[in-house]
Amino acid sequence: MALFNKKKEPETRNLPENLPKHIGIIMDGNGRWAKKRGLPRKAGHSEGGKTFRKITRYCSDIGIKYLTVYAFSTENWKRPDDEINSLMKLFRSYLEEALSDFKDDDIVVRFIGDKSHFNDELRALMIENEEGSKDRPGMVLNIAMNYGSRDEIVRAVKQIVHEVEDGSVSEDEISEQLISDRLYTAGQPDPDLIIRPSGEYRISNFLLWQCAYSEFVIMNKLWPDFDKEDLDEALRIYAQRNRRYGGV
Ligand code: IPE
Ligand code: IPE
Ligand code: MG
Repeated sequence: MALFNKKKEPETRNLPENLPKHIGIIMDGNGRWAKKRGLPRKAGHSEGGKTFRKITRYCSDIGIKYLTVYAFSTENWKRPDDEINSLMKLFRSYLEEALSDFKDDDIVVRFIGDKSHFNDELRALMIENEEGSKDRPGMVLNIAMNYGSRDEIVRAVKQIVHEVEDGSVSEDEISEQLISDRLYTAGQPDPDLIIRPSGEYRISNFLLWQCAYSEFVIMNKLWPDFDKEDLDEALRIYAQRNRRYGGV
């Protein structure tokens, strides 16, 4: 079975013309979805994984250039061991499937976050997926795993300090662009639209630097229930926003 369903969407979906180039999604609400059904939280994560596949393929089919999904934060390690273990198992099965099925897929897979906290097997699978997909022509999919934006910024600051110390960068050269270039998302445009399902009005340490002028759409759907129609709705809301970037 392919990781993403490759069937192209019919042209009749009636999407707005000004689609975002880069969408970020905080994939939240798996636990509540499971609780509502009297199921263990891991059942919610597994259902959320299916939504991830469906929505990723859909974004690629409609021509989105960059998609960043928040899968596991630097703070999520606080969760009980059995939840962490089931999440790691789920990640592994996705990565293994991706390896065998991504070959004729055109999506570029990247992981943003600190890989060093994952076990050797998972880390190797992450690197293999990145290496195996890096020359593909399609949408860039950033999967944020052990990602925290404050951690990302601290790393960037440390790197810049080293570069100043070794003389490769001077103080005058430190600019917004130079900082952007030291983040995990270096070389990519900032997200135009950030969608948070599950109704929470917070950013939870996601893309803090990059979201300076992102449009936010909070949706009252739990991630496992999120479907293409919800994404279409977010795209319509986005298309009606007046982005001023501080101007008039
Ligand atoms: C998001 O769903 C998945 C991860 C953070 C790994 P949650 O597990 O946070 O679901 P809720 O917010 O408890 O419903
Ligand atoms: C954010 O969700 C992280 C992911 C979706 C991976 P959380 O569920 O961890 O965020 P909080 O705790 O509600 O802020
Ligand atoms: Mg949550």
